[in-house]
Amino acid sequence: MKALLDDLQGELEQLHAESLFRSLADPQGVDFSTNDYLGLSGDPAFRAAVLEKLTQASGTHCLSSPASRLLRGNTPRHRELEKRLADFKGTEGALLFPSGYQANIGLLTALVSPEDRVLSDAQNHASIIDALRLCRCRKIVFPHLDVQAVEDALAQSHSEGRTFLVTESLFSMDGDVAPLKSYAELTEKHGAYLIVDDAHATGVFGEARGSGLTEAFEIEKRAVAILSTFGKALGLFGAFIAGPQLMIEYLINRSRPFIFTTAVPPLLLYGIEAALDRLEAEPQRRQRVSDLADRLRDHLGRGNLNTLKSSGPIVPVLLEESDLALKVATGVQQRGHDVRAIRPPTVAPGTARLRISVHADHSEQQVDQLAADLIEVVRESRL
Ligand SMILES: Cc1ncc(COP(=O)(O)O)c(C=O)c1O
Repeated sequence: MKALLDDLQGELEQLHAESLFRSLADPQGVDFSTNDYLGLSGDPAFRAAVLEKLTQASGTHCLSSPASRLLRGNTPRHRELEKRLADFKGTEGALLFPSGYQANIGLLTALVSPEDRVLSDAQNHASIIDALRLCRCRKIVFPHLDVQAVEDALAQSHSEGRTFLVTESLFSMDGDVAPLKSYAELTEKHGAYLIVDDAHATGVFGEARGSGLTEAFEIEKRAVAILSTFGKALGLFGAFIAGPQLMIEYLINRSRPFIFTTAVPPLLLYGIEAALDRLEAEPQRRQRVSDLADRLRDHLGRGNLNTLKSSGPIVPVLLEESDLALKVATGVQQRGHDVRAIRPPTVAPGTARLRISVHADHSEQQVDQLAADLIEVVRESRL
């Protein structure tokens, strides 16, 4: 035991030396850090709606379904919500998963075989990277958003198996948008299949329903699977995969993280139903968050800070070095804004940054104050 703990301590000391040590920090100050883009998670009307559903719930298993979906964990409420989620995304079917991480693992490991080839954007989320490792397939990691690289890779024949292209829609760390329409055209042209992780766009993009960038680009029916999460703009926890009904039937039969886990509890279903109700009732939240994020980008740009090619609620501020990112984050936190530093390995070496998340319930004054403080702290930290 001691030898192992000594080794672990050595590794942690190395992380400290490289400004890469992590510890858990409680929330403090104005939230510019979570993915609660629409400001739903603390909204009184949302809370009241969830509580009302909870109060009305009855039956033996009204809080949890303590079994897997394929056993007694399935209820009509699950199926009804999945029907609503499919309509929301504009697909034939949908399937709930306990989390987005599990959904990506469950989708890709079910679908991709070792003889298949997967094109994956260099900035795809860790859950996609981990899933592809488990698939033991041939991976082609293409440069971030590089349509030409995708086209070149697709043009090379791959007779052994299928070819998939997997991408986030709104990238979680750069806040930029994938060219989904071009990807849909290219995959169709080359007989490949498109998979979209719409986690950060769900609830934020899409004029009619707010269901995400697959709606905004009108490619809902051209992707074989679309992942969405409830733990971001919908202010909750959990995830679902949307796509052709046959794909959903396949996942029910083949996706081990779906099959061998306890059903998403009714307790969460009440929340998801209430969140969808709020989205329908208050579409103005989408416009509000977009306007506020543009306002912040505008201020930061005039202060000579690099917010990359972001659009939508995620505003990165590139600082490159981890120690500078940490120093600036600490300085901004001391002024009352909860902004966190993002360092390797979450982002590539030399691209450490702040990741600011703007919410629909922020005020203009809060956004302006953050921008002014941030510009000043960066200037002082660089001296
Ligand atoms: C693009 C993307 N996909 C999937 C996930 C995982 O979702 P969850 O937090 O529900 O596990 C995340 C989480 O941050 C994400 O950013």
